Amino acid sequence: MEPPHTKGQPVSYQAAVTPYAPETPSEPVPVILDVDTGIDDAMAIMFAVRHPLVDVQAITCVAGNASVDQVVRNTQQILDLIGAPEIPVAAGALRPLVEVPRHASWVHGETGLGTVDLPPTQRTPEPVHAVELLRRTLAATDRPITLVTLAPMTNLALFVRTYPDLLERIERIVFMGGSASIGNATAVAEFNVWHDPEAAHIVLSSGVPLTMYGLDVFNRVVVPAERRAALKASADPIEHTLGALLGHVAVDPDSGHSFEYQVIGDAGAVCALVAPDLFTFEVWPVQVDISQGLARGATVVDRRPYDGGEGGERDSEWRPSAIALQVQVPAVLDLFFDTVTGPAANR
Ligand code: RIB
Ligand code: CA
Repeated sequence: MEPPHTKGQPVSYQAAVTPYAPETPSEPVPVILDVDTGIDDAMAIMFAVRHPLVDVQAITCVAGNASVDQVVRNTQQILDLIGAPEIPVAAGALRPLVEVPRHASWVHGETGLGTVDLPPTQRTPEPVHAVELLRRTLAATDRPITLVTLAPMTNLALFVRTYPDLLERIERIVFMGGSASIGNATAVAEFNVWHDPEAAHIVLSSGVPLTMYGLDVFNRVVVPAERRAALKASADPIEHTLGALLGHVAVDPDSGHSFEYQVIGDAGAVCALVAPDLFTFEVWPVQVDISQGLARGATVVDRRPYDGGEGGERDSEWRPSAIALQVQVPAVLDLFFDTVTGPAANR
């Protein structure tokens, strides 16, 4: 079988633009989370561990919002906070494949968790690299596993290039990354893809089915001010931590521009996995710009309803991805908070 990461067939418009309306899972979905914990990765971990339809098999960590060692510590402290069972956690890539490291510490704070100060963890990370934890976890089960990556895709790219024969054990890659519209790291590039464009290119061209949870929906799931205030005022440690995470104010050292976090961010990608009916997806050809130009790190989404055009047919670098383009914000917020802080949460 041709290794999935080699060039496939050109993606025609008809082949790419097919409806994507997945069923709500009827049983727990085995998942590996890939994170750069981070304010919103923390919220995603809380949700994933607490939602009954997510079976977190492992968590792999990568540098991005903070250094990889800090990401591991943050991840374990969040697992402690929510009383999570023992879940294997491993450190992965210290830096991008080619690009220089550009941590987003001004966004997520020096520790990566804003002003949140949690007790030191007693958990110990796996004594293996994240790529080995991915291999071990995928090799150990006959149930296809869904990879949910909420960070620069360096770990996944290393895995794709190291174990191409194991890609068929991956059900789908749900990635928080990219955008069919505006960027955040640059005018057109989203941070996770921009941080390691080569890694994103390798993962998106691996042949594994893709769901893109990009800024088109990421930016819209905003927690209302009154709810943020109530969380901050809560004596419940989880609610209070959520209030501090959502209320964290980032200040850009260069421009002085500041903003309050406010969104559940990465957690929305896990919500899309368990409640796809709260989102609208379209399948379009996507390609990562890995040039050194103005659009480096952009996910270029070709939404032209035809093949060809002056630029000719799409070549095989274009890969179809289901893209979340609409979201029922109130329903997703209810899902998130009912799961993480509601009475049903196994608190
Ligand atoms: O662009 C948003 C992404 O960058 C999120 O995953 C956030 O945690 C940061 O990693
Ligand atoms: Ca993240």
